[in-house]
Amino acid sequence: MFIDYHNKINNSIQFFLNQLNDSKIYDPIKYFLKLPSKRIRPISTIISSNLFNNDIEFALPASLANEVFHNFTLIHDDIMDSSKIRRGKETVHIKWNLNQAILSGDSMLILSYKLFENYSEDIQKKLLQLFNDTALLICEGQQMDMDFENQINVNYESYIKMIKYKTAVLLGSSMQMGAIINNVNEIDSKLLYECGINLGLAFQIQDDYLDLFGDQEVIGKKVGGDVIENKKTILYHMCFTKSSNDQKSLLKEIYNSDDSNKVEKAKKLFVETKADQLALNLVKKYSDLAIKSINDLNVNRSKKQELIDLSQLLITRKF
Ligand code: IPE
Ligand code: IPE
Ligand code: MG
Ligand code: MG
Ligand code: MG
Repeated sequence: MFIDYHNKINNSIQFFLNQLNDSKIYDPIKYFLKLPSKRIRPISTIISSNLFNNDIEFALPASLANEVFHNFTLIHDDIMDSSKIRRGKETVHIKWNLNQAILSGDSMLILSYKLFENYSEDIQKKLLQLFNDTALLICEGQQMDMDFENQINVNYESYIKMIKYKTAVLLGSSMQMGAIINNVNEIDSKLLYECGINLGLAFQIQDDYLDLFGDQEVIGKKVGGDVIENKKTILYHMCFTKSSNDQKSLLKEIYNSDDSNKVEKAKKLFVETKADQLALNLVKKYSDLAIKSINDLNVNRSKKQELIDLSQLLITRKF
């Protein structure tokens, strides 16, 4: 699905990379942006823009800005999460080193801003405002994610706020940018943001699920990485709130240990407490909320199909 958009995005990423000179700061960027990935954020911008304008080329710079920015956050996230594998290959800080990953990541952030230079001044101003607000929230979300590693109990509201900030706002802004570049009315623009937020929440909950229940070859990341890093994922949250006192104690014991079977033990407990099923129910809940915003959009019904297909794709994904 969306193979044409995927190809267009990859072609324009290649064009974008060809313009970079041979400074070593760009080597990790060239490596990382070419690894196989879903391109969900740029596809979201294109699909959203398509509701109002069939010119895909016009949406490409904004769409690319979101992807380049996303890739920057991943390079730094992998440092913060001590992740060694991403997209089936070595992460940047492992393949190069920590300093290289920091500097090349910073350069990527700046490159993502520069892509907005392709738009007129008034559109650029709106894009930058949204982008800056989004980027700051992502940093706040990442801070919460780190802080929660040292907390035993994280309530549902705090968990949702954390994933809304670290992940969903970028899906929201990627969608809203499709409206902004086309000078769309405030109501539809906000609905697209809401739609992206709910899809983003569903997306991150699915990411938490796949981190443990996915197939390493398919997800391209180390299975159980979140358990090893004491992440307060939806699985942990559901297990903690829905289990007996004995199970709660066991969960705490597992998370506090650095036993080589930590991941397997956590997985078994999450299945016993049905945390896995509860997580999947939530993926469906947030994706249904996204579809509600899509239904409310004031555009032709037939035009909405791509957005509905995207929502469907995100909840059935295996990587
Ligand atoms: C990973 O994003 C980070 C999250 C917010 C869950 P993706 O799952 O979209 O990763 P790629 O870009 O397809 O590799
Ligand atoms: C990533 O969340 C969020 C950001 C990069 C901002 P995760 O840490 O869960 O993403 P993965 O699982 O490493 O892809
Ligand atoms: Mg992380
Ligand atoms: Mg991570
Ligand atoms: Mg994850």
